[in-house]
Amino acid sequence: MKKTWILFDLDGTLTKSEEGIWNCVRYAAKKLSFPEPDVETLWKFIGPPLLYSFREYCGMTEEQALQAQTAYRERYNTVGLFENRVYPGIRRMLRTLGRQGMKMGIVTGKPEGATRRILEHFDLLKFFETVACATDGHAEKEALIRRAVPDTDACIWMVGDRLFDMEGGCRAGAHTIGVTWGYGSEEELLSAGAERIAHTVDEIADILCPGAPVPEGAFLSMEGPDGSGKGTQLERLTDTLDRYGFDVQLSREPGGSPIGEKIRTILLDPANQEMSDMTEALLYAANRAQHVREVIRPAVAAGKVLLCDRYLDSSVAYQGGGRGLGVDRILEINAPAVDGTLPDVTVYLDIDHREAMKRRFAATQPDRMELAGEGFHAAVENAYHELISRDPRRYVVVNAAGDREKIAEEIAEKVLKRLTEAEA
Ligand code: TYD
Repeated sequence: MKKTWILFDLDGTLTKSEEGIWNCVRYAAKKLSFPEPDVETLWKFIGPPLLYSFREYCGMTEEQALQAQTAYRERYNTVGLFENRVYPGIRRMLRTLGRQGMKMGIVTGKPEGATRRILEHFDLLKFFETVACATDGHAEKEALIRRAVPDTDACIWMVGDRLFDMEGGCRAGAHTIGVTWGYGSEEELLSAGAERIAHTVDEIADILCPGAPVPEGAFLSMEGPDGSGKGTQLERLTDTLDRYGFDVQLSREPGGSPIGEKIRTILLDPANQEMSDMTEALLYAANRAQHVREVIRPAVAAGKVLLCDRYLDSSVAYQGGGRGLGVDRILEINAPAVDGTLPDVTVYLDIDHREAMKRRFAATQPDRMELAGEGFHAAVENAYHELISRDPRRYVVVNAAGDREKIAEEIAEKVLKRLTEAEA
């Protein structure tokens, strides 16, 4: 039987690379005391050789363009290379194809060193059995495709965003898919002979293996006392996961669904002082029952990474610990609500409750929950620690008292490790 190979172009197909390219062009122009190119000019740098672009678009002499190229590479090879994003959903698409037994490869006009470093950085190399890159300035796609798959009997699909990918693919006898989220237009792709067009990442899998099951995504939650800096860290983690090509969906509790948002208003309203502790616990559980069924499970089944701002652990900590209803009682109340749906990973922002409250009150007006006294917040912290000691493997615990940037890096590293390991 013929083997099927799917070959992908890198820039503009799997990764979005303009940020790094632009920053390096700006750096080079500044180093040579040239004015910073505007965005329209920066776009032109994507595609053509650098020397040509510096001459044509910045008005440099041959010698100046050479110096600019050196400056560009100096920054690109250390920093610019990683100022790159994998398009959202790319990982899910690669996993879907991999599970169907498709062999995959990379065919790119980039040099091999940079290509491999990018693929390793984003932990994408594991998906590919062959990587064919430009050598000594030769970046002709037809030759690269033949080098990537020497087997002349194989069925090859070339997937790319520019005319070079389509033309090279046709000349090498491959089928072609043009993708419209990169640097070429649909018109360009079609006139270069694209056999099929993918307007979204998922359409690649639809074209190549229609009806193939989508691998499950993941459920993540973030927890911590009020004032632990959770808002900032959620934003940072969402951005990192998006940058790595996961399809991320952010949600929250209380809230998270239209019904849940209504429940949230009741729960956090400072006017509701007479709410009994049991009412409060049941409202949080009711909110969760809707959230699990309407939002969390469907997202994970669709291969997304659902990142939730607070979940079951908050009830255990706040109602079980803070309100004194007891850890086990809260778990019992919530059992039918969550119905076995627990996060794959929970990030816990570990901070002394006194320090956290100091930060919280310095920020904005406190809500009904935050107005509870110090004993309440101490009990919340204790209950969190008890939960972690009961099931330490679910948690990524980070010290939340330090520098925000360092905390974000630690969370990113640990969460990415868990998620990428689970892709195997
Ligand atoms: P929110 O405004 O989302 O605050 P934060 O940014 O600190 O998450 O309010 C959520 C409040 O609700 C917070 O004080 C914790 C509390 N809470 C519970 O008491 N039980 C729960 O089950 C959940 C999900 C939240």
